[in-house]
Amino acid sequence: MKSNLTHSTIHFPNTDYSALTLKREKPLFNHLTLQNSPILFGCRTGICGTCLVSACGDLLPPNAEEQEVLEILAPDLPDARLACQIKATGDVSLTSLKL
Ligand code: FES
Repeated sequence: MKSNLTHSTIHFPNTDYSALTLKREKPLFNHLTLQNSPILFGCRTGICGTCLVSACGDLLPPNAEEQEVLEILAPDLPDARLACQIKATGDVSLTSLKL
């Protein structure tokens, strides 16, 4: 399914996982599982860093708390995000960044 005004498509490049179509601006951690994505989650609250990814596409910017964690975990990676904190506003590509 293609993205439209109400849905976003989440891609996982260079993996065997199929793209997922989700409602826009819904937290990704409610929809990504071990079965449908290569992204692992721990706390799901933006603290542990387990879900660190490189994210490209249409997504809301990190809030102050996420930005603080990103500056510690990935200070030199401008595309780094915590997948559990991402709310997509359009198509997004996620690549897991193993710590
Ligand atoms: S799951 Fe812990 S920071 Fe995202």
